Amino acid sequence: PNPPALHSFESVDLLTDSLASFVVKAQKEAIDRKGRFTIALSGGSLPKMLKGLVGHTGVKWEHWQVFYADERVVPLDHPDSNHKLCMDELFSKVGIPKENVHAIDPSLADDLEELSDAYEKELIREFAQKDAARFPVFDLILLGMGPDGHTASLFPGHALLTEDDRWVAYIEDSPKPPPKRITLTYPVINHAARVAFVAAGEGKADMLTRVLDHPEEGLPSSRVKPVYPGQLYWFVDAPAAAKLELP
Ligand code: 6PG
Repeated sequence: PNPPALHSFESVDLLTDSLASFVVKAQKEAIDRKGRFTIALSGGSLPKMLKGLVGHTGVKWEHWQVFYADERVVPLDHPDSNHKLCMDELFSKVGIPKENVHAIDPSLADDLEELSDAYEKELIREFAQKDAARFPVFDLILLGMGPDGHTASLFPGHALLTEDDRWVAYIEDSPKPPPKRITLTYPVINHAARVAFVAAGEGKADMLTRVLDHPEEGLPSSRVKPVYPGQLYWFVDAPAAAKLELP
């Protein structure tokens, strides 16, 4: 794989401006090529970090197809819902068609197996037949990194770290509440054209050096290694980057 491209900024405002330009560029390339832009979003502070997209004249919301890198299995209007967070922080402020945002709605399934299968089918509808395309190729996946090195709902030591077949999986034992979650798997994340982590604040510094300087530890965030020609990016602020050994 290509080495990760590290973009470090003096302030969070500079980071969010640059992140918005980056997303718009990825969007433009995708739309020019095939008329649509497929993106997966995460929760945490990520939706807020996308504030540079609000009012940005380059964004063609009608061509976006939005999925979630992971979701907590809670009602869509629950305070823990990543979808609600993205709606509140971003989508309620811009003109994206409702049907372009693919929520993971637990009220439509009897159990987690059915819920993750239903979301996998939703991906198959977007990315064509699973048999034809072994794994979907997202134009962009945006991720956060937890204090334990987790990303999406892929946690240290979990069996899902070696999942190599499913597109979407569920867990019932998240070390961080809520315990039930749906997540994209590594094969999906690692087949994306671009994957970008966003990490800000000094609370990320120790974990960032473990993930980037010591990938041999095998932390969940280190396992994000897009297959060529996919590219991995890190958007970080100076406090998060403070302990990196790399230049
Ligand atoms: C969760 C959190 C978590 C979060 C990371 C990074 O589902 O438990 O949303 O995955 O995204 O901990 O969080 P920040 O981006 O807020 O630092």
